[in-house]
Amino acid sequence: MINSTAHVIDTAAMTAAGLSSFDYQPQTRVIFGPGSVSQIGSVVKSLNVSRVLLVTDPGIKKAGHEDRVKELLESSGLTIHLYDQVTPNPTTDDVHRGVEFARSFNPEVIIALGGGSSMDAGKGINFVLTSGGQMQDYKGIGKAKGPMLPFIAIPTTSGTGSEAQSFAVIADPRTHLKMACGDKRAMAKVAILDPELTVTMPQHVTIVTGIDAISHAVETYVTTKRNPLSQMFSRTAWRMLVASFPRVLTNPADVDARGQMLLGAHFAGLAIENSMLGATHAAANPLSAHYDMAHGIAIGLMLPYVVRHNQSAASSLYAELACDAGLCEICDPAASEKLASFLQSLAQQAGLPTTLRSANVDFSLLGQLASEASEQWTGTFNPRPMTVDDFQSLYASAMG
Ligand SMILES: [Fe+2]
Repeated sequence: MINSTAHVIDTAAMTAAGLSSFDYQPQTRVIFGPGSVSQIGSVVKSLNVSRVLLVTDPGIKKAGHEDRVKELLESSGLTIHLYDQVTPNPTTDDVHRGVEFARSFNPEVIIALGGGSSMDAGKGINFVLTSGGQMQDYKGIGKAKGPMLPFIAIPTTSGTGSEAQSFAVIADPRTHLKMACGDKRAMAKVAILDPELTVTMPQHVTIVTGIDAISHAVETYVTTKRNPLSQMFSRTAWRMLVASFPRVLTNPADVDARGQMLLGAHFAGLAIENSMLGATHAAANPLSAHYDMAHGIAIGLMLPYVVRHNQSAASSLYAELACDAGLCEICDPAASEKLASFLQSLAQQAGLPTTLRSANVDFSLLGQLASEASEQWTGTFNPRPMTVDDFQSLYASAMG
């Protein structure tokens, strides 16, 4: 499926003087491999700490991962305090409950075990616990007031790549709209990527998180902030994810394919950290807020329409991705459409809705959705500038 002969120069990622500039300092020790979670005890001890806040959610308890990690930590002589009530798409309420709990024992390290929700909540707790105030104070970039606790991320899904990012994505409980709270000090000190932990994901979670990771590779590859480093992460992620996604759907116990998905999602997360996201995420967030649509469903629905919308601004880049996936030759003028159709077929084959109409979105709400999408910071990095009218026509095209 992968076409290794594709080779074109991305002139759009080059400035007049040459390649786009970037500033990248790796801050996370990454431990990858089947069974690598067994190293958690020695990893924590290497930080010279003993009081641990373990942040997770009820699904992880059910899968048996919470007890396993707790045992591994306790057998290393560490003291564990468990906060395992994180809700999906965590809100400021999740964060403030976690902070209140943590204040009672003054943790020295925070470990998040789970999907994006647990990792975002863990980072959010770290902000408020160490810098005070409330979560809303950290919306934006660089708002932490001092050092934060060391943070260890152990993802159990292959989706957000949150373990590679300095952002905590926390929702406002009233509007359900998401706030991006970023600070380099919030980055994980260690990320443990154990593919065996992702084998227990229910099929629908494998689908929605996998589609999300794929969208991260596609969106980051074309943003206005892209640079040679971010594109290296995006493209490697794309190749790994596209090759392994059908495999994990067919055989959920395939640890090698699960590893490719987990590492692909991590690389896509690194791409986000270095080049941000685009109009798909801006358009998806209001859908999740108004219709309680899972992030991966909203993303999988909107992504093909965004690729079509961006075609005039990113056709050569989309052609590279289409070529990598074996969809066409690099010079094919229909490459963007072939990529969009391919992405739509992935969602369709996974049983996800591919039009807003089939997702029961009300046409009369499109104006409000467009207005909210245009206020999403992430949309400002889209390769084609997005006005309210642009979002309105994007949603209209996605009605089907
Ligand atoms: Fe996403």
